[in-house]
Amino acid sequence: MKKKGESRQEILMCPPTYYAIEYKINPWMISQVNVKKAAAQWEKLKDAFVNLKMKVSFIEPIKHLPDMVFTADQGAIYDHLFIKSNFRYEERQRESIYTLDYFRKKNFAIVELPKEAYFEGQGDFIKYNYIILLGVGYRTNLKAAKIIQTLLNKKVIPLHLVDPYFFHLDTALCVLPEGGIMYHKGAFNKSSLAKIKNLTSDLIPISKSDARKMACNSIIHKNNIVVSKGLSKKLIKTLKARGLRIIEIELSEFLKSGGGAHCLTWNGVGR
Ligand code: ARG
Repeated sequence: MKKKGESRQEILMCPPTYYAIEYKINPWMISQVNVKKAAAQWEKLKDAFVNLKMKVSFIEPIKHLPDMVFTADQGAIYDHLFIKSNFRYEERQRESIYTLDYFRKKNFAIVELPKEAYFEGQGDFIKYNYIILLGVGYRTNLKAAKIIQTLLNKKVIPLHLVDPYFFHLDTALCVLPEGGIMYHKGAFNKSSLAKIKNLTSDLIPISKSDARKMACNSIIHKNNIVVSKGLSKKLIKTLKARGLRIIEIELSEFLKSGGGAHCLTWNGVGR
């Protein structure tokens, strides 16, 4: 039996047909994408999920929306609800219109937040048991945190991000099976670090260099963890010691935009 609020392992991906770096809304976005390489990397990521027997669904890419490939940011799913993202930057705002359409057709109840409540979906929204951790600071804001708390009637803990390289929560924090938290300390302010410590004593702090390889931006399925290639031997060893099977995929073309496996893959979109 699925527990209420638990993510189902159905994922939503968007082919990188129009993926490019056409603007700069975070400090990673300083070089050009090799389109062929990006397409091959994305295929390998998708194949890894297919091999893990996850259900992979696709949303059609839209011209002139180069970041649409990062599906996780377009909204959040909680039970039967689809909470549409309200992107901070104009460059990404249209993406969630198409995603809304997709979930409406799947009979999700739709929630649209007021204009001033910025929200960037699963990029900033991470479930921890029955609590929701919400990244705030660069993209999602406290207004959205308050509304989501009332809407879902769940405890929402806002975590303040303070390093522009870690502008979404999923770039700096990842919940492991059994509730351990892998995170990058430098991404959070003091009070947020204290809040993380309050959640569990099973903490795995990672180095800045692993964090910059998007270690936290990983997808976990059963005892498998799909990570971006290039993590330190030390971290790989730590993850293996926890019983995780490591699946490494080269995602360099997506790191150029500030994304990794987690944001390319909206996990838990089934009903
Ligand atoms: N270029 C995209 C942006 O700045 C990258 C998004 C990555 N998403 C994530 N959840 N980390 O919005």
